Amino acid sequence: MNSKELKETFISLYGEGKNEIHIFFSPGRVNLIGEHTDYNGGYVFPCALSFGTYLVLRRNDRRMVRFATTNFDHRGEVKLDEPFEKEGKSWFNYPVGVLNELRNKSKEIEGVDLLYSGDIPNGAGLSSSASIEMVTAFAMNEIFAFGKDRMELVKISQSAENNFVGVNCGIMDQFASAMGASDHALFLNCDTLDYERVPLKLDGMKIVIANTNKRRGLADSKYNERRAQCESAVESIRKEKKIKHLSDLNLDEFNALSHLISDETEKRRARHVITENTRTLAAIEALNKGDIISFGQLMNQSHDSLRDDYEVTGKELDTLVEEARKVEGTIGSRMTGAGFGGCTVSIVEEDQVETFIREVGLRYKERTGLSADFYVAEIGDGSKRIN
Ligand code: GLA
Repeated sequence: MNSKELKETFISLYGEGKNEIHIFFSPGRVNLIGEHTDYNGGYVFPCALSFGTYLVLRRNDRRMVRFATTNFDHRGEVKLDEPFEKEGKSWFNYPVGVLNELRNKSKEIEGVDLLYSGDIPNGAGLSSSASIEMVTAFAMNEIFAFGKDRMELVKISQSAENNFVGVNCGIMDQFASAMGASDHALFLNCDTLDYERVPLKLDGMKIVIANTNKRRGLADSKYNERRAQCESAVESIRKEKKIKHLSDLNLDEFNALSHLISDETEKRRARHVITENTRTLAAIEALNKGDIISFGQLMNQSHDSLRDDYEVTGKELDTLVEEARKVEGTIGSRMTGAGFGGCTVSIVEEDQVETFIREVGLRYKERTGLSADFYVAEIGDGSKRIN
């Protein structure tokens, strides 16, 4: 929908009004490498996509915030003079969570009507939820002049998801949604929050996203379980060495200390985090040198580690990756995001993209019975005002 259509839909839902209508946007993201490292104080390398969530907003001069979306029929509202309650698995828990965080920081929210419109495939692991949170935080900050910078809004959005929605996510998705820049990936140190925008020099290559279209079932609880296993591994290592995060260790240090982790599963989880962190640094170095081949090999190794050590891939993601790697012109292919379904990301030579989509789609269907969707990624900007 374009801005005019969004405004018309807004008015058809909420009626005409004297206050001005504003439109904001925050994108989804795809992570190129550095998976399940963010909550371990490690490095990530995501980029913002050109698709995301639009938010149309108008003050309503009532003590309530009303929610609607063009994506589902489900509408909601919260009263500003009452505590905000989480409502089952409703989509508007994400924006209500953000309002809750802002209110906890004694930021005075006034009544507004909100219409969300997302063009990110739902539940695909491309951070539709982070884009809803970020667009809400960004818009509220602008409209009510809270004076917060982007990084503060990123933290508010992450806290909303941790505290209100109940998913213990790291900072990567909200960060990518807020900070993205077209044709750049974001190299973020999740411990210090230092970051750099790195130009994506992919001459003659494209980033292709493939959606497994697998329902992600228990993804949130499995995600929280992985996180708890990493924390437990940190506790074990602390018996001999003071560390804050798993990412404080390099591979040699880990190998010397790994006997302290008695649980074999936790040991493998920790090994993934540490090797992935090393791979992420190597990948960025390769990219800076224009060595895309090495970058692709590191992507492949990342997937294999997520499959064998972290165990977050599953048949559908593994099939997409296996078939992708068989196509000539595929430089690298891996799952992206939390896993357990969702998407893969591949770097493919431009003149092979059509073949890639056809071949991988066909073989994936044969092997899983599911139809994959493919997107040639356009790398876009972070949160912004549209009008
Ligand atoms: C999800 C989380 C992120 C990150 C990734 C895995 O997308 O929201 O914080 O942990 O999984 O890298």
